[in-house]
Amino acid sequence: MLVSAKEMLTKAKAGKYAVGQFNINNLEWTKAILQTAQELASPVILGVSEGAGKYMCGFKTVVGMVNGMLDGLGITVDVALHLDHGTYEGALKCIEAGFSSVMFDGSHYPIAENVEKTKTLVKLCAEKGISLEAEVGSIGGEEDGVVGMGECADPEECKMIADLGVTMLAAGIGNIHGKYPENWPGLSFETLAAVSEKVGDLPLVLHGGTGIPADMIKKAISLGVSKINVNTECQLAFQAATRAYIEAGKDLQGKGYDPRKLLAPGTEAIKETVKEKMELFGSVGKNS
Ligand code: 13P
Repeated sequence: MLVSAKEMLTKAKAGKYAVGQFNINNLEWTKAILQTAQELASPVILGVSEGAGKYMCGFKTVVGMVNGMLDGLGITVDVALHLDHGTYEGALKCIEAGFSSVMFDGSHYPIAENVEKTKTLVKLCAEKGISLEAEVGSIGGEEDGVVGMGECADPEECKMIADLGVTMLAAGIGNIHGKYPENWPGLSFETLAAVSEKVGDLPLVLHGGTGIPADMIKKAISLGVSKINVNTECQLAFQAATRAYIEAGKDLQGKGYDPRKLLAPGTEAIKETVKEKMELFGSVGKNS
């Protein structure tokens, strides 16, 4: 059964480790992540962007697939199914469809509007026992070929949102989605420490987990980060392994064209990436 992310993140914050959110795109992705979490006795959060939800034929299909897999694969570790960077409307749809966790990304709204919309969702989520992530200070990333540097959140605004009763808070600390550019100055630990001090026990979320050096990840966890989002790194691992399979001509040998064979190396590569991250984040064995 899917669970809210509240308990797993409260435990992570107290135990000074982080739970990984790995974004899913299809059946192979979901299966690879769930099997790895089970094998390593780690709690896990499956992230679904609105685009990926659409690609998988809607949030109801995603809920059906994930629930089916929990049963079919005999998954007993804690799994939360979470909307990633949701719009207000998207969050409502996911709550309705059976997600156990949602993110409302109101970081691009003026703070008063972010507060208002987040407040309404806090109430709805509380009624259903669903965890809610909010965001202050937008996360950078590539748009039209230009990589925008991540913003640094205002700690006072973080406190305003934290006080509404959200489950976890994503605060921009110079992090970026996708690959980090050569001239990236690194995470702003000064901002993270200031936000952490303002929000107390509230679990903090680090987006843009791909390509952040291990020492920065560990420092971020020590300063209150309890959830780390990873997406691009699984995509790159899948792409490299699939390319190698085809370049080696394996799709042309025997029944190498069978999708179950063709997609297998990429799926294994996702498992390897998820394992590495769970080890780095310290969540291995926390669900036994
Ligand atoms: P990356 O794609 O950089 O790993 O970021 C993932 C993320 O933050 C999803 O919200």
